[in-house]
Amino acid sequence: MLAMRPISRVELGAFPTPLERGSDLGEILGIDDLWIKRDDLTGYSWGGNKVRTIEFILGDAIAQESDCLVVCGGPTSNFAALMAAACARHGIAVYQVCYGEVSHREPIALAFSLAAGATVMFTGSANRASMDDAAKQCVNDLRVKGRRPYLVPRGGATVVGALGYAHAAGEFRRQLADVGLRDVTVVIPVGSGGTIAGLVSGFTHDFENENDAGAFNIEVVGVCVSRPPEELSPVINAMATACGGGRGALRSVHCKWRLVDGRGAGFGVCDRHEDMFIDEITRRSRLLVDTTYNGKAMIWLGDSLSRPAGSVVYWHTGGFLAVADRAANRITQPPVKSRDGMI
Ligand SMILES: Cc1ncc(COP(=O)(O)O)c(C=O)c1O
Repeated sequence: MLAMRPISRVELGAFPTPLERGSDLGEILGIDDLWIKRDDLTGYSWGGNKVRTIEFILGDAIAQESDCLVVCGGPTSNFAALMAAACARHGIAVYQVCYGEVSHREPIALAFSLAAGATVMFTGSANRASMDDAAKQCVNDLRVKGRRPYLVPRGGATVVGALGYAHAAGEFRRQLADVGLRDVTVVIPVGSGGTIAGLVSGFTHDFENENDAGAFNIEVVGVCVSRPPEELSPVINAMATACGGGRGALRSVHCKWRLVDGRGAGFGVCDRHEDMFIDEITRRSRLLVDTTYNGKAMIWLGDSLSRPAGSVVYWHTGGFLAVADRAANRITQPPVKSRDGMI
């Protein structure tokens, strides 16, 4: 296995994020011993899982003296918007390549990218894969102009980006030890696969010189929300292996992982049943739940046929911009004002 070169990290987030009991969510989903890893609260801007990913991608881009990033990210991409915010702080330009066409009502994520100064271009095709070739073309064009671009694929799903979650795995093991959990199933939403690849790598390879947190049995279940599990599985496997390249095996953890299909009505689309279930979770759990990632993963977890036994940790990945979009899209009528001006 090839050893991975050393990668710099830009500190953005506030870690560790809490690991807390999720009795309210557990009650709704029918799970007695449910915990929540709060990566919705990663502490940089509006948070979410991609803060960990961006710390390493941005660190690598700066170390390579890149002067701009070409980022593949659709109009609702949390990742691209956060990347634009983080790059603005470091004076690095962002070119965001989006699938689809310009629309008069942009999602909040795209508005944030633009506000952070990103140059946004559309491929004109509804196919998400159209971003891949368009981004390569953009990189070539920038090089011809003498720029030093760094290419970032969809979701930041690279071996470098996966390092964020490889390190989160160590943080998590220490928290499990603190609360006395040794045998857990971790459930996490999967889009591009970079997050779960890093996590699996961090449970399989020794990133911290075998800290003394003790022995664990960890099963990671990735709920695929955009692509079929059989398509993503080899990609994740290869990324997890390359991410741990050159490191020894982590003997204290016995880790298994699998992907399940949680697409339901489709990527970013909810049917009435899914929509109502997400509303109920939001009302009763005190959590903000987006419909694209966490809503779908929670729906999978709440299905009695798939529910894992024993202690379960739900790994919340954020998605707050989509929560705000959903709320805004539901306002069909302006609030009514009374005569004294109160709403
Ligand atoms: C809120 C949220 N959760 C989960 C994911 C999935 O992460 P990954 O693409 O690394 O699988 C994303 C991806 O953008 C996301 O924005």
